[in-house]
Amino acid sequence: MTSPLHSDSVAVHAGREDFTALGVHAPPLDLSSTYPLPDLARGGESYEAMAGGGYPLADGGAVYARLWNPTVARFEAALAQLEHTDTAVAFSSGMAAMTAAILAHTTMAGKRHVVAVRPLYGGTDHLLATGLLGAEVTFCAEEEVAGAVRADTGLVILETPANPTLDLVDIAAVVAQAGAVPVLVDNTFATPVLQNPVTLGATMALHSATKYLGGHGDVVAGVIACGEETAGRLRQVRAVTGGLLHPWGAYLLHRGLATLPVRVRAQQDNARRVADWLARHPAVARVHYPGADGDPRGLLGRQMRGPGAMVSVALRGGFDAACRLTSSTRLFTHAVSLGGVDSLIQHPAALTHRPVAPHARPSADVVRLSVGLEHVGDLIADLQQALTATVPASTRRTT
Ligand SMILES: Cc1ncc(COP(=O)(O)O)c(C=O)c1O
Repeated sequence: MTSPLHSDSVAVHAGREDFTALGVHAPPLDLSSTYPLPDLARGGESYEAMAGGGYPLADGGAVYARLWNPTVARFEAALAQLEHTDTAVAFSSGMAAMTAAILAHTTMAGKRHVVAVRPLYGGTDHLLATGLLGAEVTFCAEEEVAGAVRADTGLVILETPANPTLDLVDIAAVVAQAGAVPVLVDNTFATPVLQNPVTLGATMALHSATKYLGGHGDVVAGVIACGEETAGRLRQVRAVTGGLLHPWGAYLLHRGLATLPVRVRAQQDNARRVADWLARHPAVARVHYPGADGDPRGLLGRQMRGPGAMVSVALRGGFDAACRLTSSTRLFTHAVSLGGVDSLIQHPAALTHRPVAPHARPSADVVRLSVGLEHVGDLIADLQQALTATVPASTRRTT
């Protein structure tokens, strides 16, 4: 019996199993918007199968690209292997994926209530708070989930590490509190390299694939790894609402998966050094980084295989210092998004979390860093010169 491959090897080879039979070394990129129909009756049956969330019939064709695309399916198969799930369903953005998950577990399931553990990415918080999808939401803390669940609750949503506080949420504990209600974990910050929520009891692991999965800042995409039954409902929503990922994006994401473990580990090494250095800087009041609080519940190791590469800092100089820092870095680009090979810096309260209700919004002194693959000495030197700009000249000290 051959032993199962290490996940580093899976990342390189997943979704490529048929290459030798096809006689190719790179994934075929299928850009068709429509497909020739071999036969009207079988084409129609294939259409019906896909519109209902199923797969194209072998002799019926893929019919139309909003329903199915083989390049997208390849990326889905590869991501599912990394997340240890039956399958995955890819969308045109992380928010399209979140929308499909909410619709599939509320309107489609005859439920109308969602429990959401704050903090969440600002866009997710906003989507839920507006009630745009017809679902009522109860926002709560991790330990309040059991009390928030009702008979008409269709979904529990959490994010760990959370954006932007890097709070860790105990996935297994929330799953236990949720009882029979499906739990969706936004796994964007951890990536499948550091955490596999479905193996911990969650129903779905969602990624803004725009971030680490793509890794190069050139794709907007979302994906949900889950079991086959859930996937059928998500594909049905996707087919009906039109949120399919473009095949070019899927091609780039599939390519990104091959280097994902190496990128995440190298970025994490840099982030650890950056977080340590920041914790000792006089302009910094607090560093938010998994494990920075000593990890009293032991979630690092038990749930997450490493702290990741996102770091947030609260600055002693408050919002003014945050403005000066974000406009003073040279290597860290002042931009939203995260998870790419290049380092980014942004102010969550003013940007990514702007639509969040004021009492739940990140505080104004917090700046978020996405640590990339540059040399860590250059990153720290950049922060050193930029932080100097945040401290009034009269009170400056060197570190
Ligand atoms: C944690 C998290 N989830 C979901 C999203 C939404 O993803 P997208 O921007 O791909 O729609 C983001 C975007 O920043 C995010 O950071």
